[in-house]
Amino acid sequence: MTFTPRVFSGIQPSGDLHLGNYLGAIRRFVPLQDTHDCIYCVVDMHAITVWQDPDDLRRATREVATAYIAAGIDPKKAIVFNQSQVMQHAELAWVFNCVARIGWMNRMTQFKDKAGKNSENVSLGLLAYPSLMAADILVYKATHVPVGDDQKQHLELTRDIAAKFNNDYAKSIADRGLGEDFFPITEPLIAGPATRIMSLRDGTKKMSKSDPSDQSRISLLDDADAIARKIKKATTDPAPLPETVEGLLGRPEADNLVGIYAALSDTSKAQVIAEFGGKGWGIFKPALAERAVAQLGPMGDEMRRLIEDTTTIDAILHDGAERARAIAEATMVDVRSIVGFIR
Ligand code: TYM
Repeated sequence: MTFTPRVFSGIQPSGDLHLGNYLGAIRRFVPLQDTHDCIYCVVDMHAITVWQDPDDLRRATREVATAYIAAGIDPKKAIVFNQSQVMQHAELAWVFNCVARIGWMNRMTQFKDKAGKNSENVSLGLLAYPSLMAADILVYKATHVPVGDDQKQHLELTRDIAAKFNNDYAKSIADRGLGEDFFPITEPLIAGPATRIMSLRDGTKKMSKSDPSDQSRISLLDDADAIARKIKKATTDPAPLPETVEGLLGRPEADNLVGIYAALSDTSKAQVIAEFGGKGWGIFKPALAERAVAQLGPMGDEMRRLIEDTTTIDAILHDGAERARAIAEATMVDVRSIVGFIR
């Protein structure tokens, strides 16, 4: 069975958006809208798997939407919406909760990291999170999902859920003439020099919204001074940049900053090393800061401008949700019938 190529991705409105979200995800969403049907979601239902203050959640939801738009996503072309407006995500997630196995969820490293020693006392939603993520993707029968490296395991699970649904319900799917495979086996798009941006304080830790140190990440709303200051203060080893890209091995901080430069310049780490190999941090860091400020500065300004206009943002999310719902409902009409629900 061939599926129409369709891109879906999502970002949680659960804290400050940072450079990792931008380089690993948002920036890569933009060119795809010229080649694919694209659906970009603000996954507010995922965010509440851990406590969110309701007012903060509303603000953060609008902030992710403004980041999409400020980065260059055209909401007339791509669909931009917040997840909770399209209830078909939750409906399909329930079916997937009954297809997926608890053992699959318990194996998720993100669940283990987030739950820590407290796994009996986290929300049930946090455990079932990957099932909702599979529903986000498959309710649109999306074929491609651009994400950072940390989402790889969740996407493997999405493939497992699709395959098990297709298999468990194979007869019902065939009886209804819905083809051999009802859901596609989605391809993750994890590529480029910025699939895993690390903390500016510790090159072995991922840059993350939940790191208590604000110095560890560049926020998309940081002004030019803050961006330059954080890059200047970023932890590095004392040696100059290596002469070859292999020389970055075992030097996580250097590797991270070179990767950030490469991603911001649409080039490869090898090319950055060809330009800066042998040079010291006193040369490289100001060049990196200049690149970062040139790109993130105008985007942050645009986000700050857009976020004031909540009426326009909410109208974009509402329009996107209507278009998303039409696709999602068509899938659910078939799913209900495949599973055996009477309507
Ligand atoms: P979230 O909100 O944690 O992150 C959003 C996107 O940013 C990427 N990312 C990074 N990339 C590179 N370096 C980093 N340090 C870094 N930190 C985050 C993430 O990989 C992601 O692409 N479960 C998802 C949200 C989600 C989703 C989906 C994604 C829900 N449903 C369906 C794709 C498809 C999450 O928590 O992303």
